[in-house]
Amino acid sequence: MRRSMGTFFSQTLCLLCLGSLIPGIMAGFLETRTGYLTEPAAYRLEAETMVTAERLSSAVASSFALFDTSSILPALDSGTQGAGSDVILRRIVTRTIIPETGDSVEVTGLLAVPVSANSTVPVVSWQHGTILSFDQVPSNMVKLSDPNYTLTDDADSLETLFNIQRFAANGFAVIAADYIGKGPLRNGRGEAYVVKGATTQTCLDVLNAGLTALKNLDLTPTKLFLHGWSQGALNTQWLHQALRSGGVAIEATAVASPFSDLDQAWRYWSGKVIFPLPEGLSSYAALAPWIAPCMIVALGSYELYYDLPGLLATAVRPQYRELAERYWNDYNISAIHPSDAPNSTNLLVDSFWKGYTNDQISALQRQLISNTAINWDYDSPIRFYYGLADAAIHPAMVTRTLAAGGRFTEGIHVANGSHRATFLAGLYGDQTSLDGHDNVLSWFQSKLL
Ligand SMILES: *[C@@H]1O[C@H](CO)[C@@H](O)[C@H](O)[C@H]1NC(C)=O
Ligand SMILES: *[C@@H]1O[C@H](CO)[C@@H](O)[C@H](O)[C@H]1NC(C)=O
Ligand SMILES: *[C@@H]1O[C@H](CO)[C@@H](O)[C@H](O)[C@H]1NC(C)=O
Ligand SMILES: *[C@@H]1O[C@H](CO)[C@@H](O)[C@H](O)[C@H]1NC(C)=O
Ligand SMILES: *[C@@H]1O[C@H](CO)[C@@H](O)[C@H](O)[C@H]1NC(C)=O
Repeated sequence: MRRSMGTFFSQTLCLLCLGSLIPGIMAGFLETRTGYLTEPAAYRLEAETMVTAERLSSAVASSFALFDTSSILPALDSGTQGAGSDVILRRIVTRTIIPETGDSVEVTGLLAVPVSANSTVPVVSWQHGTILSFDQVPSNMVKLSDPNYTLTDDADSLETLFNIQRFAANGFAVIAADYIGKGPLRNGRGEAYVVKGATTQTCLDVLNAGLTALKNLDLTPTKLFLHGWSQGALNTQWLHQALRSGGVAIEATAVASPFSDLDQAWRYWSGKVIFPLPEGLSSYAALAPWIAPCMIVALGSYELYYDLPGLLATAVRPQYRELAERYWNDYNISAIHPSDAPNSTNLLVDSFWKGYTNDQISALQRQLISNTAINWDYDSPIRFYYGLADAAIHPAMVTRTLAAGGRFTEGIHVANGSHRATFLAGLYGDQTSLDGHDNVLSWFQSKLL
């Protein structure tokens, strides 16, 4: 049962009470928001639960191998990599107006606060990666309120678990948006996968609600850090750019397994561009079978949010149309027999990259081009952790982003790093796995000194 709104309002509602938050962060933040919002934001907190440091570390230990798919890391060392403190988890509920459609929707996210936090707290905004299901969102970590609940790869957001165990259990508050079309308030709404405005606005609004909530919990947010993986790496770059456009100070940003230019990524996934082998390698990872489902979800999302009726049906080869439309509606991969499944190189109609097919496909391609994140001169440190065995991202895609991104960018390659192992190494690796660099936690901690 949800508590009545009246009760919530008296306890937690806050009408853009941002003036009292750190001026450096909030003044600019308001500027960014005014263009989007027509009514004051409110939030409420739900499902508060405390998770012990031991439970977090034990959950990470049992999930570690699922992400270290290329076996590049030693097992979790509970002595040096254990959670430092217990963490309080809460679901945040706030409202977003989707820029592409004007719809006003309730969105959810996770607020994780170290029990040890006292008067001030640095903040990590965590952007999760692609989820091919409706409910493996960060805020579902509150399921841990059941002492017997075990997080699993099929039902939960293990990537969020790793972030909580690393950051929230070591002094940082973590704020993480559940993206539109995901999570407990989805209400049948389609996902806005890699849709720039909807995604960026959701991340901004959940971040803003989280910062406001911290203040109301008597914790003043101090330095702001951003972290994202895969799709969340793109979202993190969009968020970074929106925050900096609004004058918000960002202490440091780290992204793992990033794709930053959707047009280039789609060409690579479709087999239309082939990059030379990275120096020193004699082969490169074949494209992953899960890319095609991601492209289907992107087509469905762009059809819906950019108002391109018929896009999904006409962009996909006739033999895959029914399957693609069904998948976009139910995300049920087990309903697709592997022998009938499209892959990323045979999903799209032949004419897709050859010339004009129809207005919807042309509009999609313009949108993929204009939603790039690479056209940005970073003025605050940003690290790109990328794998040399990533089945979705070629290193050449990342080095191009670094080359265009300016002096504050830094690329850190992960030898033999798969898509998942690169992310895990970014959080738990050391100089050995990270080409002589430190991991994201150590790097963020060094910025607190
Ligand atoms: C919080 O920090 C203040 C100042 O350092 C200290 O006096 C106080 O005991 C701390 N409170 C807790 C609960 O740790
Ligand atoms: C957890 O499991 C134990 C042992 O199976 C059981 O006794 C207990 O009632 C369960 N607790 C909850 C909250 O379900
Ligand atoms: C996709 O399947 C086709 C066969 O239909 C095959 O030729 C191609 O190599 C596959 N591409 C990938 C990336 O697996
Ligand atoms: C997914 O598809 C499989 C195979 O058709 C079916 O058994 C299962 O019930 C479906 N799952 C859902 C959630 O619809
Ligand atoms: C990493 O990959 C290289 C080939 O690229 C291989 O020689 C080496 O054994 C691998 N290392 C590990 C730890 O798997």
